[in-house]
Amino acid sequence: MQEQLNQIEQSGLAELAGAADHAALDAWKGAYLGPKGRLKAAMAGLKDVPKEDKPAVGQRLNQIKVALESAFEARKSTLGDATSDTAPRLDLTEPGLLESHALGRRHIIMRVREELVEVFARMGFDVAQGPELEDDEHNFVKLNIPPAHPAREPIDNFYVDQPGQVSTPRMLRSQTSTVQIRVMEDAVAKGWGPPLKVVSPGRVYRPDTVDATHSFMFHQIEGLYIDRGVTMADLKTTLFQFARAYFGRDAEIRLRPSFFPFTEPSAEFDMKIALRPDQPAKWVELGGCGMVDPAVLEVCGLDPEVWTGFAFGFGIERIAMGRYGIPDIRMLFENDVRFLEQL
Ligand code: DAH
Repeated sequence: MQEQLNQIEQSGLAELAGAADHAALDAWKGAYLGPKGRLKAAMAGLKDVPKEDKPAVGQRLNQIKVALESAFEARKSTLGDATSDTAPRLDLTEPGLLESHALGRRHIIMRVREELVEVFARMGFDVAQGPELEDDEHNFVKLNIPPAHPAREPIDNFYVDQPGQVSTPRMLRSQTSTVQIRVMEDAVAKGWGPPLKVVSPGRVYRPDTVDATHSFMFHQIEGLYIDRGVTMADLKTTLFQFARAYFGRDAEIRLRPSFFPFTEPSAEFDMKIALRPDQPAKWVELGGCGMVDPAVLEVCGLDPEVWTGFAFGFGIERIAMGRYGIPDIRMLFENDVRFLEQL
């Protein structure tokens, strides 16, 4: 019996030293220490050992068990143990971290811009884009703004080329009305239309002094509808529908006679809005509108005897300020997250 025990111990330790990976280690554990292993079998043989030898053999059995077990643990840790307590564990059932990462969001101007495009899309308007770096043909000439017009003064515009030095000086566009011209020219050149029904949101630039209501860069959304028999009544209906869709059923609008070189008749479009939640609503000018001047249709290649249309251009900041109760335009550009997070 002693012989057999020595043999178990020796071969156990030798085989353990040869176990090269965790699978081999598991197999070894089963063969020596498991319920059907060699040590258990030897223990079962204890009942046949003569009574006087039992204590010595029992002790030896225990000794071997301890030796094999500790050799096993040592071997396991040299092989590197993925399941030991010291190794990092990945518990997929753990709840996530409560403290979430701050998520960014689109700027309020971009959101309002999209909301406006969506409201007009529901009324059948497509979206058109035009360049921010324009020539004065599109910013002025074709919009019926003649060379001597005060709106063309260099002091009121961001020219890139000196007016007078090149035939069509380039500039940062001062209005999105430029896109009206581009859409009509394209439609004629490519034969898409009229009818034309588009809105065009985008940035515009004017060297204004910054204050609560002015900025040297701001956003406009331009609208243009050209078809047979379009009237001022269509314009007013469209603006009223827009106001109700975006500001709610009680929205009030008004058109005031005005002048723009590219529309005849022209009007100023006002809405009754509370700019601060604690103040009563008052009339706020959102932009201009009117019936497209026949001279503008003509310069774009459209016969004013056949086609008529309306146009409008609104300030997106004004609309955002009215819709979300923002009292000062500078808040929209300072990028103070404490403000932006509230919107
Ligand atoms: N472009 C004008 C501005 O920036 C606004 C405007 C007025 C646009 C009348 C229009 C319009 O389309 O018909 O002040």
